[in-house]
This record gives sequence, C-alpha cells and structure tokens, in this order.
Amino acid sequence: MSTPGPGEHSSKAPQIAGVPRHVAIIMDGNGRWANARGLPRTEGHRAGEEALMDTIAGALEIGVKHLTVYAFSTENWKRSPKEVRFLMGYSREVLRRRRDQLNEWGVRIHWWGRRPRLWKSVINELQAAEKLTRENEKLHFNMAVNYGGRAEITDAVRQIAGEVAAGELTAKGITEDAVRRRLYAPDSPDVDLLIRTGGEQRISNFLLWQCAYAEFAFNPVAWPEYNREELWDDILAYTGRERRFGGAIEKVAGK
Ligand code: IPE
Ligand code: IPE
Ligand code: MG
Repeated sequence: MSTPGPGEHSSKAPQIAGVPRHVAIIMDGNGRWANARGLPRTEGHRAGEEALMDTIAGALEIGVKHLTVYAFSTENWKRSPKEVRFLMGYSREVLRRRRDQLNEWGVRIHWWGRRPRLWKSVINELQAAEKLTRENEKLHFNMAVNYGGRAEITDAVRQIAGEVAAGELTAKGITEDAVRRRLYAPDSPDVDLLIRTGGEQRISNFLLWQCAYAEFAFNPVAWPEYNREELWDDILAYTGRERRFGGAIEKVAGK
C-alpha cells in the first residue's frame, strides 16, 4: 500500500494564511465504523492506517509543522485483551511498514507516552523510528502511545517534587514554564487546533496542558474515512475563528 506523497495527489492543498502550527488529532470511531459494516472492531483500526498516512501527507502539503495523534491512551488498557493485543501489534507493524516512507517525506517521528505497561517491542519500534528520522524537519509527527494528559502532568509534578526535595529547585521556582519544561516535549508549541473524528465531543485525557487555548473541531467522519481533504476543511474552518486568548477586541456595531 502506498499513499500518494506530498504533491502527488490529484487534489491540491488550498493556499491559505493562518495555517495552525500544531494540529492534534483524536483518531476516533474505528470500532463503530467496523461494526456498522459487520466487521470486528480490529478491522476498523486496520482501516485507519491509510487515513493516517493520507492525513500526514495533507499536513505536509498545507504547511502544518507539528502533528500529534492519539494512538493509544492510558485508559485503553481497559479494552478486551484481544483488542489491546491487536492495537499493540498493529502500532508496531505500522511503524515498521511506514517509517521509510515518512522518512522520505521529511517527517520527524517522536513518541509521547508513558513507559510502564507499554510493550517493549512497541517502545523499540518507536525508538527506532525516532532515530531514523531525527534529522528531518519538515513536520514533527508525534505519536501518543500509552499517553494520558494526567499521567504526563503527574510525572512532571513528581519530577519537580524530587528536585525540590534534593534542593535543586525552590517552591518559588515552580512556574508554568518549569512545569512545561518537564512534559514529554518541552519545545513543542501549544496545540492550535484539536480535531476529534467519530462524532464524540470530549477530550478523553489528551494533551490537557497543551490544549489550554486550542480551538476544537469535532468531525463526525469516522477515522477510517478521514483524509487530507477532511483535514484541509477542518483547517479552513479554523482559520475563520477569532482567537482571543483571554483578551478582548472592541467591535462596536456600525463604526
Ligand atoms: C479509536 O477508535 C482508536 C483507539 C482508541 C485505539 P475506537 O476504537 O475508540 O473506535 P470507537 O470509538 O469505539 O468507534
Ligand atoms: C480516545 O478515544 C483515545 C484514542 C483515540 C487513542 P477513546 O475511544 O478511547 O475515548 P472514549 O473512551 O470514547 O472517551
Ligand atoms: Mg472511541
């Protein structure tokens, strides 16, 4: 399976101003998509691979610089052993199958997530992909695997407490910036646009810190049917929003 690379697809990305720097996606709706077609849930995850590759190509084409996708949450361990096993094995396979193509596209892969419980073979594959693509700079592609927003913040807090106890940090030194610097990717910018496919309207413990001022797009399309054109539509809608970050703009009617 080969996805048309950046510039190879018949549809072209719209040339627009104000493209979000950091887009995050909750790739949801796989199981329901499969069940509606009389297939087991795992077939929905399988169908999501092409959607992911097409979306990455679309992000490159429109000029997104950071793309973070939710592949497996710290809560997804609650699923049946069969589904968990499938998801672990499948993330490993997708990484192995697609890393060369992503490398050719100039994508730099990063893993965001917690180590405990995550399969060692998945960690190895994630690290191999990080190593292979470390010189690339067109797009930072962050794969959230065994990721939880609360886990990320809790781990940062634990690290800070250790530093305070060791006398390396004072209580006064615990600023927002000090917390941010202890997250998985301190240099990654905040999320500008959070997209959730599959119709649900919730954050499900994704990027709690980084989404403080994100704009949200809830797209009813199930993840297996998402693609670069859907991404461009969601981005286009985002560019029409007015982001205020707590500030205010005076706009008196008629003046
Ligand atoms: C998202 O799709 C993929 C993962 C959580 C790994 P789901 O598997 O949650 O699909 P639905 O939401 O049940 O349809
Ligand atoms: C969020 O989707 C996690 C991923 C997409 C990996 P879920 O399907 O797990 O979220 P809930 O259970 O509907 O909140
Ligand atoms: Mg779901």
